[in-house]
Amino acid sequence: MCGIVAYTGKSLCRNLVLGGLARLEYRGYDSAGFVCIDQKHGQFSFDKEAGGSSPIERLTDKIHFDGTAGMAHTRWATHGMVDIKNAHPHFNCNKTIAVVHNGIIEGHEALREQILARGHQVVSTTDSELAAHLFNDEVEQHKDLKSAVIAFVSQIRGAFAFVFLLVEHPGTLIVIRHRSSIVIGIGNDEAFVASDFIAFADRTNRVVFMPDDTFAFVHHDTVEIYDFLGRPIPYSIQTLDQSYVEIDKGVFEHFMLKEIYEQKRAINRTIGFCKMLGNQSSEVFPHGNDQWAAPLDFNDSIWRQLGLSVEQVVGLRHINLVSAGTSWHAASIAQFFFEMICKIPTRVFLASEFRYMPFFPEQDSVYIVVSQSGETADTLEALRLINSHNVPTIAITNVASSSIVREAGGFLPMQAGPEISVASTKVFSTQLATLYWLANRIALERGLITTEEMYNAEEQLCVAAEVLESTIEMYKFRIIQDLAPKYMHYSHFIFLGRHISYPFALEASLKLKEISYIFAQCYPAGELKHGPIALIDEHTPVVIFSVLDDLLYRKLLSNAYEVKARNGHLVVFAFEGQDELISMADTAFVIPPVTPLLGPLAMTGLMQFFIYHITRQLGMPIDKPRNLAKSVTVE
Ligand code: M6R
Repeated sequence: MCGIVAYTGKSLCRNLVLGGLARLEYRGYDSAGFVCIDQKHGQFSFDKEAGGSSPIERLTDKIHFDGTAGMAHTRWATHGMVDIKNAHPHFNCNKTIAVVHNGIIEGHEALREQILARGHQVVSTTDSELAAHLFNDEVEQHKDLKSAVIAFVSQIRGAFAFVFLLVEHPGTLIVIRHRSSIVIGIGNDEAFVASDFIAFADRTNRVVFMPDDTFAFVHHDTVEIYDFLGRPIPYSIQTLDQSYVEIDKGVFEHFMLKEIYEQKRAINRTIGFCKMLGNQSSEVFPHGNDQWAAPLDFNDSIWRQLGLSVEQVVGLRHINLVSAGTSWHAASIAQFFFEMICKIPTRVFLASEFRYMPFFPEQDSVYIVVSQSGETADTLEALRLINSHNVPTIAITNVASSSIVREAGGFLPMQAGPEISVASTKVFSTQLATLYWLANRIALERGLITTEEMYNAEEQLCVAAEVLESTIEMYKFRIIQDLAPKYMHYSHFIFLGRHISYPFALEASLKLKEISYIFAQCYPAGELKHGPIALIDEHTPVVIFSVLDDLLYRKLLSNAYEVKARNGHLVVFAFEGQDELISMADTAFVIPPVTPLLGPLAMTGLMQFFIYHITRQLGMPIDKPRNLAKSVTVE
């Protein structure tokens, strides 16, 4: 994680760099720092801020110095506490070299000892500072910067994107990339380097995505890129058809609330977009926000877009989904879509586990990687592993310019629009909509459903989106006035689901934990009796998410009875007509019925709204929960 922005050019860089850094806040917000070269005095000017909810804002307010070459960093702590000394930039001992770093240096303990043994003063407990001292020694030992970088890189293991600035080379940004993405922006007599192009998208849309295992010397008018052996790498400048649009909260108190309310429109947009892609309709639906939407050729067929031939789709025998966090919950719900609609055995993998498990490449299979950001390191590394076996891969992400999109064989963009709140809401529901649509589209291609049924599936998605929003309105005042003030006082929750509602319960439990910091544990409801039932008491609400399947509903009912028999406090999310479950609950949310596989989607808005308001009552920083980052780019 961490966000990097750097500039070299003819303009003063403070506003450009710090403005860009603010847009990278989603990558972490533990601390922030800025450095630029004070050419008059031949030294660096720098400052840092750490802790609190907005270090970037505080930093921006206090910095008044400026220069024509500079860089900034927002940190998500990995090695070392959240404090000023650990905030980037870091420096060599005599402060002639500054570095900002994204990633993790492996074996940093041994490196630290070597560096200390050579007499360096290491002031932080980070792995990143070691790079400044190590590079210092290489610069001293080599007559040219290129040899110094090659020698430096040969000693570093892990994943990294570094940008170095040297007082002696004031117009040059030295950029090094290994398994951590970084992009160069080519402007008019100026150049940028950033973790994400949105940092400079208001200034230029001409970019160079640095290939992995390369380093670059970036000047205001030229860029040289080399591999780690020092051989020049030819590169091309891409013009991105995307621009940055400033997003604000509008009338909402938090981005999370705004994004909860954006879901119905996002799902409708997704369906419209998928319809166009699937060549079933000539209706034109609004595109997602330009910054995030993909530049697509609508004449292209859906399968070509996904990197598959029609024969491959018809012959599919295995579907695999790989993802993390909320995206993994969406994928786990989608397993039911693919197995029940397409009749194709489907497996769902946590990306962080997948990489370290044996891999069995199968004929006639496809791997779908699902990620909001398209930058999650676990998911990206899993994708790279799959790609190395030449198995077809499809990315489903919300960010068209992301690494995962660039590296996957095919791409199906979500139409959620930018999601700013760290807790994922509208991306989750849009993922469900996209995956449900895709499952139906595959079934159509395989002759398992008719075109009529395909249209019906799209219609059902619209119905579920409607229910998602209307149920919020139904319960709005009760939640705000009675329920949130009541449930904020509980310190533990148990969440239960069964079948398709189990991964949904996992998502609810993650949502509660990540924004309210209330402890929540989720179980498949049938497992209650195998141990967790010991936890039931009147102080621990048990939240049950029902399903639209008669047999499974009866099973959930038994679980609810088990809770009540032990004096447990029961909260249910049930569907209209499930009166027995509703009547035994201490609190019941009743949702109009939808097509059974879309039950979780229909419940999504209400679940998120309830948890949002519990957290609001607690006064937590909802959009930026402690310790989290929107984009998790370290393993
Ligand atoms: O960008 P991704 O979807 O790959 O991110 C995966 C998780 O880091 C993410 O879903 C995380 O769990 C969110 N904080 C959930 O709200």
